[in-house]
Amino acid sequence: MLSGKKVLVIICGGIAAFKVLELIRKLKNLNADVIPVMTPSAKHFITEMSVACLSGSKVYSQLFDLTDETEIGHIKLAQSADIILVAPATADFMAKVAAGICSNLAETVVAAASCKVVMIPAMNVKMWDKKANQRVVSTLKDDGFDFIGPSRGEMACGDFGDGRFEEVEEIQNYVEQFFQPKKLEGKRVLVTSGSTLEIIDPVRFISNRSSGRQGVDIAKALNAYGAEVIFISGPSSVKPPVVSEIINVETADQMYEAVVAQKNIDVVICVAAVGDWQIKDTSNNKLKKEMNKELKLTLIQNRDILKTVANLKNRPSLVIGFAAETQNVIENAKKKRVQKNCDWILANDVSRGNDTMGGTFNKVSLITSAGVENWPKLPKSEVGFRLAQKIAEVI
Ligand SMILES: Cc1cc2nc3c(=O)[nH]c(=O)nc-3n(C[C@H](O)[C@H](O)[C@H](O)COP(=O)(O)O)c2cc1C
Repeated sequence: MLSGKKVLVIICGGIAAFKVLELIRKLKNLNADVIPVMTPSAKHFITEMSVACLSGSKVYSQLFDLTDETEIGHIKLAQSADIILVAPATADFMAKVAAGICSNLAETVVAAASCKVVMIPAMNVKMWDKKANQRVVSTLKDDGFDFIGPSRGEMACGDFGDGRFEEVEEIQNYVEQFFQPKKLEGKRVLVTSGSTLEIIDPVRFISNRSSGRQGVDIAKALNAYGAEVIFISGPSSVKPPVVSEIINVETADQMYEAVVAQKNIDVVICVAAVGDWQIKDTSNNKLKKEMNKELKLTLIQNRDILKTVANLKNRPSLVIGFAAETQNVIENAKKKRVQKNCDWILANDVSRGNDTMGGTFNKVSLITSAGVENWPKLPKSEVGFRLAQKIAEVI
């Protein structure tokens, strides 16, 4: 139930605007206080009357409103919200927000907001895929906006692909989850993330394809659940999460030292794709091509972070590892869980072509002593929330 929660819904001028009426109805059923704001274009698609009736609230749309603005209404509106949903978020609206434009009330409210702002985009697949739009989406994500959808399917124009307005139930789930009690408050959780790199010489290294996105999304979810998150990350192409502490490392050795130095940890989640080997004799000087027609590198095994943590005398009460496999995924992950003495393993298939490493989706299986739970293919952010929920259930 969302009693006392103020959900500000910004409705933009897209064909999916009619679906927002259903969203407002659902939010009202959960007892949320819904405050609607419409862009001028939105009024071409649905009426203010419908929005007012379903939300039970005045519909805000004028920036230069003499009554509201005697009290600087746009700032008050922005500050009164516990969460802002932009639904449907048009390509136009997102581009303006990304550029910091404040040319109408809705854009100005987003600029003045200090709560979470969630974009729920809907548009034609070609518009969604357009490089300019993808640049905008990426900027908004980096700036801390959350996204729900778009989903894949048939569009109003008959095209098929990404760009459909997400199912109202999914949006409702997100909002309910957002407001849920901080179930991991008081828990110290350590997350390792990203790749590691192993030094060959001052300019060269060996690394792997991990982007760090899954680790970032898990850390964000744990943070949303109220945990104190210590985030130890190797090189990563993803913006780090906002958490209690971030420790940046490069090599597997550095990550090992950073992890074992942590004290009083309740849960460890080893998401980082740690290199299994390092170069035995790294060179202090750049290796010269002319002097090494054939270059032989001897690799020696790195220390095993997951196994070390899982076998510590004062081991955290929950130790979770990831198993990135390309063959016999479940069987290998089951073996890994036992060999390393960890409690849970999240197994995923990282074969080339399935877009797990570097992509935004993941399909994982949770392996515990009780058995195997296969999760559907989910956005990595959703995997993070599911995992946080599972942890909250046992810790
Ligand atoms: C019939 C029609 C349907 C449209 N549907 C969409 C849509 O689904 N998504 C979108 O991003 N833009 C859509 N547009 C374009 C937007 O209405 C247009 O970019 C407008 O400026 C958006 O204004 P706003 O972002 O201030 O609401 C549509 C336009 C028309 C005429």
